[in-house]
Amino acid sequence: MSTATSSTLEIPETGVIPRHVAIIMDGNGRWAKNRFMPRVAGHRQAMETVRNVVKACGDRGIGYLTLFAFSSENWRRPKDEVSVLMQLFILALEQEMVKLHENGIRFKVIGDLSKFEPKIVKFIRNGEKLTAANTNLTLTIAANYGGRWDIMQATRNMLAQHPELSSGFEEEDLMPHFAMSYAPEPDLFIRTGGEQRVSNFLLWQLAYTELYFTDTLWPDFDAQALDLAIQSYRQRERRFGRTSEQLQTLSSAERAKRIVADQSA
Ligand code: IPE
Ligand code: IPE
Ligand code: MG
Repeated sequence: MSTATSSTLEIPETGVIPRHVAIIMDGNGRWAKNRFMPRVAGHRQAMETVRNVVKACGDRGIGYLTLFAFSSENWRRPKDEVSVLMQLFILALEQEMVKLHENGIRFKVIGDLSKFEPKIVKFIRNGEKLTAANTNLTLTIAANYGGRWDIMQATRNMLAQHPELSSGFEEEDLMPHFAMSYAPEPDLFIRTGGEQRVSNFLLWQLAYTELYFTDTLWPDFDAQALDLAIQSYRQRERRFGRTSEQLQTLSSAERAKRIVADQSA
């Protein structure tokens, strides 16, 4: 199965371990406030959580991890906070790239990078190139990302490359132009920090994703918290528009197929 398929057009393969986990890492500011520390202390601690969660995802055989690090709306924050977030991002890139590569992790960034300093963009693109052939886990950082931006840029790029489509196009025409066209759609979405909203994250790709919200603040999130989310995911019945009865018939038909195959082996 090619990766960039649409859950609204065909039923994706899903297993006990989600292939793709997408996380809104929220609650850093409140974590710091609870400790009478400045908000940026929460962002610093968040880096440690990112390291632990990347490792935990790799250990569990998750293929794709996508982390929302900075939204297209986060520029509205106080200048000082935005500036610290950028510095932390650069520091993390510099400190972690070689380690990611050594651990066989493919690194990707999605988002509108036109607002970033050329030096950072170059560093990101070099990191992506360095790790392009790695196969253990694809780690995507969403930076200055917005779901609406993605849909708009995909449409613009598609029409620029295929002017003949201006009279009409299909989902399949648009999909290769999304920023994350290299990944299957997320199976599991996690938002920490208690808010129950999508905040302009992967709007298109979350069409059939299982949603999981936890009050745990991102700096407190760990491997155990990830396992709770996966456990909840496993209890879901992903119907993709079908009925529960249809799914049961399907799975018993699949079981029967497997028995026949085993017997003839
Ligand atoms: C998430 O934590 C990090 C970013 C949005 C960059 P917040 O900074 O939003 O933390 P809260 O929601 O204020 O606690
Ligand atoms: C969402 O968090 C964006 C990131 C985690 C990067 P916010 O804390 O900015 O979300 P809202 O604005 O409260 O929904
Ligand atoms: Mg927040």
